[in-house]
Amino acid sequence: MHTDAVGIDGMAIWTGKLKLDLADTYAPAQDTDPAKYTKGLGLYASSLPDVHEDIVTMGANAAHRLLRRKGVSPDEIGRIDVATESAFDRSKPASTYVAGCLEQVFEGDFRHANKGERKFACISGTQSLDDAFNWIRAGRSRGRKALVITTDTAFYERNDPGEATQGAGAIAMLVDRNPDVVAFGTHQGHGSADETDFLKPNQQYPSVDGTRSMQVYLARIQEALEDLDAAGADLHPDAHALFLFHTPFPGMVGKAAVLGYNHGVRGTEVGSGLVDRIGPQPRPTAFDDEDAYLDALKTYTGKLMETPHYEEWYERTIAPTLGLSRHVGNWYTGSVHLARASGLQAAAEAGRNLADERMLVASYGSGAQAEIHAETVQPGWDEEISQLTIDEQLAARYDLSFEEYEAIHDAHNHNRETPLSPQTTPEGEFVFDGWGGMGERTYAYVE
Ligand code: CAA
Repeated sequence: MHTDAVGIDGMAIWTGKLKLDLADTYAPAQDTDPAKYTKGLGLYASSLPDVHEDIVTMGANAAHRLLRRKGVSPDEIGRIDVATESAFDRSKPASTYVAGCLEQVFEGDFRHANKGERKFACISGTQSLDDAFNWIRAGRSRGRKALVITTDTAFYERNDPGEATQGAGAIAMLVDRNPDVVAFGTHQGHGSADETDFLKPNQQYPSVDGTRSMQVYLARIQEALEDLDAAGADLHPDAHALFLFHTPFPGMVGKAAVLGYNHGVRGTEVGSGLVDRIGPQPRPTAFDDEDAYLDALKTYTGKLMETPHYEEWYERTIAPTLGLSRHVGNWYTGSVHLARASGLQAAAEAGRNLADERMLVASYGSGAQAEIHAETVQPGWDEEISQLTIDEQLAARYDLSFEEYEAIHDAHNHNRETPLSPQTTPEGEFVFDGWGGMGERTYAYVE
């Protein structure tokens, strides 16, 4: 029995219903080698929203599926937090729209649920889970559950280098006592600094310094590792069944994983064996200029990644978490939570028994902050994960031609009036169906 455990009791995923194939459709139109996307970034396709989809429909559809499957009624929910960096309203939170959608199909209402919208780039989904955990642990929940929804339409400006990493989807998570999927640990490590590498100052598409954004991601992850270490957590790579990272694209996680591994083996037998084999990690103070240091670090990292212990660790704890991301792109606030689903689903398919095993979860948001915490997989996790239906959803996506992709991008552009017919026929889902008298977006449920 895990009586004081609080964590994720169930989750449901909703992917945008369109697919942009990066190798077959995007690369030829950009006149680029497809391997840049499939091997360099580690992405095969992006999920994109059809014209009747947005952050509210995807979030409500994921939540609807989750609440129905778990048999949870509106009066059992004490808070609804939506995490997004694709909000379209600066005052009214997306959670009120989502609750309004759900009230169209459920008996009862969410009148007594505390609702909000969380913003800190991609890390706000994890912050919402933290809020839910704290609310329950503080004794304020009155036995009710929290609904946390991550939902984003991660579009970039056309021809921006980030365009290949786009994605759209939502994840709904139920946070409760005695959870069926994972229990949250109490140790947390943070790394946070005022950075301007990726931001959207009053604009739909992000301003991005891509190279710098990767450096900032790695710097904040390193700081969070040090902070978590100081908090007393066990970071040894062999102590964790899975290590999840925020996944803007799988290639980014390949770089971050090296930091996690290196930090975890420091001062251990594996670490001493590593020094004997490939020498010590280069230190910036040993070099006259930064380029020479970065070159030495790249060479060292390459050698480390080829050591048998690292390769075995990566295949077991990191690779399984990247499977879904490769087919959907960046879901911003949902990306690290998709990594959790991916890792657990792959483990279940491989017949691994993860009950009572630990995982490390590294979240990141531009601007910039990283947070790492541990979770313990709960008995019953595999039953929950078998209900995800994500593979069926991915297979059912409409495969866009490049011209159709261009039209969809325009249709979702807030600064253009480009009406377009949907590519898919909605069935058993919420859809965006127009505008209300005060400029609000309106939604309907299609049977
Ligand atoms: N075959 C194999 N690999 C190839 C290749 C080929 N033909 N061509 C290029 N590659 C490799 C490159 O070597 C590179 O790999 P390494 O970094 O390991 O060297 C990789 O493919 C990407 O190539 P480029 O660096 O040339 O790609 P780019 O500059 O066009 O774009 C990017 C990369 C800057 C990350 C861009 O996608 C971008 O701006 N993305 C948005 C920002 C982002 O995702 N940043 C990540 C950290 S911030 C964050 O995580 C928050 C968030 O969610 C946005």
